[in-house]
Amino acid sequence: MKKLIDKLQEDKYLKKEELDYIISNIDENNTLYLMDKADRVRKKIYGKEVYLRGLVEFTNFCRNDCKYCGIRLSNKNAKRYRIDKKSIVNICKKGFELGYRTFVLQGGEDLKYKDSDIVEIVKNIKKVCKENVAVTLSIGERSYESYKKFYDAGADRFLIRHETISKNLYEKLHPNMSYENRIKCLESLKKIGYQIGAGFMVGVPGQTNMDLAKDLLFLKKLQPHMVGIGPFIPHKETPFKNESPGDVRKTIVLLSLIRLLLPKVLLPATTALATASGNGRANGLKAGANVIMPNLTPEVYRKKYMLYNNKKSSGTEEATQLENIRKEIKEYGYCVDMGRGDHIDNMYVTQI
Ligand code: 5AD
Repeated sequence: MKKLIDKLQEDKYLKKEELDYIISNIDENNTLYLMDKADRVRKKIYGKEVYLRGLVEFTNFCRNDCKYCGIRLSNKNAKRYRIDKKSIVNICKKGFELGYRTFVLQGGEDLKYKDSDIVEIVKNIKKVCKENVAVTLSIGERSYESYKKFYDAGADRFLIRHETISKNLYEKLHPNMSYENRIKCLESLKKIGYQIGAGFMVGVPGQTNMDLAKDLLFLKKLQPHMVGIGPFIPHKETPFKNESPGDVRKTIVLLSLIRLLLPKVLLPATTALATASGNGRANGLKAGANVIMPNLTPEVYRKKYMLYNNKKSSGTEEATQLENIRKEIKEYGYCVDMGRGDHIDNMYVTQI
């Protein structure tokens, strides 16, 4: 096992069978060995810095019906909300005053926000923040032309998890959605010039370790700037309500593998990981993660953006939340960086 892990770090070509073998057989001791390697690589590239992004969950309306997701269209018990354009910009302005220099605008796939609305929001965020801030969109599938408009308006990054590269599984999880279009979106975004983020859940029903191994090889080929992964957590109003949650240690193993396969990637210790385990965030950071996304969504809405049961919400006012996260990060031996936190290959480009 150690030999295989070392081979991975040397960036030699790994077969999917080998990745599957690691994921399926790694024990606790070797997990620590793997985490340590990932942590060293992360420190070599990004130091001890943890980048903070202010997350704004601005709508929980969604036209899709993903089997795992709490805000799926068929969940008639979800209390839906939309935050208006002005308020979204104001939330970011407040975040800017607290020190945030990156905002992630996330929502369900809600076409009530027309292309022109998103353009206006992006432009106004850039206008009200007096310094160079990065705007990340996470609003799902739109056309190439729409993505291009958002980019021209100033959007810097786009997150859209591929969810799984196994077509069969993708189609089981996402009724009436197109696997091909999902991948096409990522390719379009990259071509336009965005820093792109892909990713997946660990332990979603029907997923095998071989599926995960293929996801890793897909990421290696795609070379995204960011990768978001977290354990699957059941939601009580979905068809998966009685399924088992994804394994936390397996998620940690995958985080480390991603850091070794894509040394320069921006890798968040996600809210799902923090929700699934009390020390999920600490272990995520020790396993190569270098991003945390504190929640700037106003409290009235936060409880409604429930993708899964008991989603961790610090429930505190933004300034207190930030202080707590700072303390937490310091405790784990890392330090906070409130800058834009660009991918290392984009730092020069975006800062001139
Ligand atoms: N458990 C964990 N993660 C989830 N997501 C959606 N539903 C769940 C769930 N039940 C993830 C998806 C999506 C991201 C925004 O949240 O991967 O892309």
